[in-house]
Amino acid sequence: MTNTDPYILGLESSCDETAVALVDAAGQVRVNAVISQVELHARFGGVVPEEASRKHLEAFLPMIREFMGEAGVGWDQIRAIAVTYAPGLIGCLLIGVETAKALAWRHDKPLIAVHHLKAHLHAPFLIPEIEGKTHLLLEKEQEFAVLPPNQNHQELNGTRRAIPNYPHVGLIVSGGHSSLALVTAPGVCRTIATTRDDAVGEAYDKVARLLEIGFPGGPVVDRRAAKGNPKRFPFTVPMRRKDAADFSFSGLKSAVARKVEELKSEGKLDDAAIDDLCAAFQATVIESLVGKSVEAAERNGVRDLLVVGGVASNRGLRSAMKSAAKGDMRIWFPHFSLCTDNAAMIAGLAWHVPPLAREDALELNPRAVLALESK
Ligand code: KG4
Ligand code: ZN
Repeated sequence: MTNTDPYILGLESSCDETAVALVDAAGQVRVNAVISQVELHARFGGVVPEEASRKHLEAFLPMIREFMGEAGVGWDQIRAIAVTYAPGLIGCLLIGVETAKALAWRHDKPLIAVHHLKAHLHAPFLIPEIEGKTHLLLEKEQEFAVLPPNQNHQELNGTRRAIPNYPHVGLIVSGGHSSLALVTAPGVCRTIATTRDDAVGEAYDKVARLLEIGFPGGPVVDRRAAKGNPKRFPFTVPMRRKDAADFSFSGLKSAVARKVEELKSEGKLDDAAIDDLCAAFQATVIESLVGKSVEAAERNGVRDLLVVGGVASNRGLRSAMKSAAKGDMRIWFPHFSLCTDNAAMIAGLAWHVPPLAREDALELNPRAVLALESK
């Protein structure tokens, strides 16, 4: 690949990550830069929207200049500018959208509006670049060295790599969303199930706050769960019944809160108890997610199941999903660098989304809420 290949420049700022990326038409990530505001928000135990918007405003233009410069990519190599316009924190989205509009106007580039959750669903199709090297094999692909007939694949630098087939089922698990979707083409989705209350990542963050073990909660609960005994404090798996299509995590969070109070009052909330609570919480969450996802794939008659979003980096979830796959079902995850919010997924999906007409580009407005079914 040479520097003359055209890229889409992606911008993402729907929550507390300012992200800039360059991705080519094959889905090869050239730049994937993320400035996380985790430390800023950690002392509040959650994201403060106004603070987040201000940081996005400060970060975007210097980041774009720095990372395009570092990659040696000029504006003449940018095919279009893509930006997350929904869903998310409205002030945060607004900074990204207005930055993208200004750049598109200034450099005379097409503007592409991208739905954040649809972009998460596209992440397993991308080829990450880590420390200047192409990571061609996704975790699961190593098992497909010899590709079966009718396998959807992509030819890249003379190598065949497997990619998921359409239609497939996608499980989106992040700080703001927990949904199952049927994906029939890039960016074309129908919701199968969603959460009735808290998102999975949100439940992780709240449990970590109850246990006073840090923010964001996912990675730390995941680490401590690996050391704990999931059987010491058994919790009920929410919405286990087969006909209960949706997810729910707030009841589980309250059950953890009650147990924490009980242990505290008995003076028994020591490190081992925290590890065991993390293990039990995580095991319960995983059982709910895995059961419903595998069932949805079977019911819709699809072979491929994609797990995306921040919580897709959870090691316990990854291994449980793989072991639950039935028959010829295949489970796909994005590379770890593409699970939490990033702009590579925005630029990657943008290759499959028509640009806005020139007269509409400057009229683009962000949307705090937007269904997966939207065009
Ligand atoms: O996708 P994401 O970056 O942001 C949203 O679009 O919401 O997801 C962030 C969420 C946080 O709630 C964080 O606690 C969770 O993903 N997370 C994890 C792990 N890493 C991040 N949850 C469970 N296990 C992890 N290893
Ligand atoms: Zn996200």
